[in-house]
Amino acid sequence: MKFEIPWPARGHNFIPSDLDGLQDLLLSEAPMTNSSFVEQFERTFCSKFDLKNCLATMSCAHALDLIALYFRDLYGENAEIIIPAHTYCATAIAFGRAGLKVVWADIDETSKVISMETIKKVITKNTRAVVVVHLYGLIAPDICKIAEYCTSKGLALVEDCAQCIGVVRENQYVGAFGDFATFSFHAQKNMTTLGEGGMLSFKDPGLVGVFRGLRLNGHRGYERDIDQPYWLPAMTDVCEDLKASWPLKSTMTEAQALVGLRLLDRLEAMNKKRKDDVMLFMNMMKGCPDFKFQPSLLAESHANHLLPIWVDTKRVSRDRVIEYLSSKAKIQAIIQYHPLHHYELFKNKTNCATDLPVSEISYDSMISLPFWEGQTHDDLNKITQHLKLGLKESML
Ligand SMILES: Cc1ncc(COP(=O)(O)O)c(C=O)c1O
Repeated sequence: MKFEIPWPARGHNFIPSDLDGLQDLLLSEAPMTNSSFVEQFERTFCSKFDLKNCLATMSCAHALDLIALYFRDLYGENAEIIIPAHTYCATAIAFGRAGLKVVWADIDETSKVISMETIKKVITKNTRAVVVVHLYGLIAPDICKIAEYCTSKGLALVEDCAQCIGVVRENQYVGAFGDFATFSFHAQKNMTTLGEGGMLSFKDPGLVGVFRGLRLNGHRGYERDIDQPYWLPAMTDVCEDLKASWPLKSTMTEAQALVGLRLLDRLEAMNKKRKDDVMLFMNMMKGCPDFKFQPSLLAESHANHLLPIWVDTKRVSRDRVIEYLSSKAKIQAIIQYHPLHHYELFKNKTNCATDLPVSEISYDSMISLPFWEGQTHDDLNKITQHLKLGLKESML
């Protein structure tokens, strides 16, 4: 089907200044990967968002992989890692692949993200880490409480900030609450480093060497004697950074990092455009109580990555609303996300209780509207008008 307002393939448009220097870089003989622009991007990312150590990766999934490999080594295979069942699959795959036990947590009914209460329900003596996903762009409202709790219990805290970049809660940037954080610069995110890219951040400076090694095939420079030939024994050493885990190859290109640097300069403006559009949308949706929103959509702690709404399924057929938008108005709304324990991969590979009523209800009642930084007001207008018309046709 050809949509007039399709699910957007991009999170934002580029403007010519985002590409400043790119042609010169590509036409020069400068290194193409993992060199000075990557280092500059990492340093700038750290200082902009008050993070301690940052390493750029090929994706957020790989940043999660690096953490998972480290946890597998540190905690062993019986370690349980608490992960919300309501997130994108990559959050959980990394930990499962590393051989750790994935334990699903439910989400809070109002915020739609993992909470202190849902974490406490699944903590056991084998829990070693908690992964908080700031889903849809909302910093988990309980993040401060969760961070305090994890510290008091000796649990590692990972923040999956793939959908949430550049926003603050209680004067602290997202990603700075936990011991580890990961960011995504995939094409559909609030900023993209040419389609793919990620960032790993972590508090302990003692881990810089380990993560650098894990990120690039265990490579290290040899410590050579001054009179030793430069070519012997070989170009670089290959070291074992962790006993139980093999390294990855996940370095960012210089072109990606250069564009990332330019985009960091206008991230606030891009996030503000999203916020202004959400405000407009909320105003246009006033007087339509059958649609519910995350209550914090307009708060500073929301990066407005996605525009999800929920209906009361006792009154409204969610599927009929989506069908109406699709067939009558050519607007492509979707559902995000199928609770992870329903997927074959996780059903077969994880063995954990699946009593997750809020994730289920949320899935059954949600509609994710097409939303991106380049959205026009005409499109927003059309979406709201047809949502209202679709609602009338979908009352039970
Ligand atoms: C919550 C969440 N975590 C992780 C990822 C993985 O990000 P990437 O595509 O950069 O690997 C995504 C991507 O959509 C995501 O939404």
